[in-house]
Amino acid sequence: MRIFIDTANLDMIREINSWGILDGVTTNPSLIAKEGTDTRTRVREIAEIVDVPISAEAMSLEADGMIKEGRELAALHPNINVKLPMCISALKASKVLSGEGIDVNMTLIFSPQQALLAAKAGARYVSPFVGRLDDIGLYGTEILGQIVNVFSNYGFETEVIAASIRNPTHVLDAASMGCDIATIPYNVLQQMVSHPKTDEGIQNFIKDYEKSKK
Ligand code: G3P
Repeated sequence: MRIFIDTANLDMIREINSWGILDGVTTNPSLIAKEGTDTRTRVREIAEIVDVPISAEAMSLEADGMIKEGRELAALHPNINVKLPMCISALKASKVLSGEGIDVNMTLIFSPQQALLAAKAGARYVSPFVGRLDDIGLYGTEILGQIVNVFSNYGFETEVIAASIRNPTHVLDAASMGCDIATIPYNVLQQMVSHPKTDEGIQNFIKDYEKSKK
């Protein structure tokens, strides 16, 4: 499974890239706003520091606007793909943009039916939001397996990005269900590294090493 970081923070992207595990970056308007910048400026900055796919979200709600914005965003850098929020306009725009060779990441996916339509409209990626389904009392990770299954039944090349990941268990579920990608916040990536028994083991090895030197 490929690992993307879900952030617009340059230091976090640099740090995770230095771990040698970074396959991509996803941003959204809320993540960009947290950084006090704008999408075009920030995705250009991200493209200067990492050579991986970067999602940039279009804000228009009409198909024509999405197509125009999508072309502009994709023209900023070859690694940029265009995030469109799932709706009829986005399906229309996805068909046009993907026909022009521009990768679309259909976002705000909350059902396998939406994912099926996005795949049929040529989206390169779909982003089902796991945590936000948990937030309303549903089993968020359930749709990951359903989408992977639907895509595999019909040989869709659209890749599944498990998004709205809130904890390491979500990541394990995404990997177990065969998602192509998980886009993971910085704090969850840090949590994935840690295990109390690893920390304890390191301390014990250091103690024993110090003893054996005497
Ligand atoms: O980037 C989209 C998604 O990952 C947002 O996550 O935690 O705001 O639901 P969250």
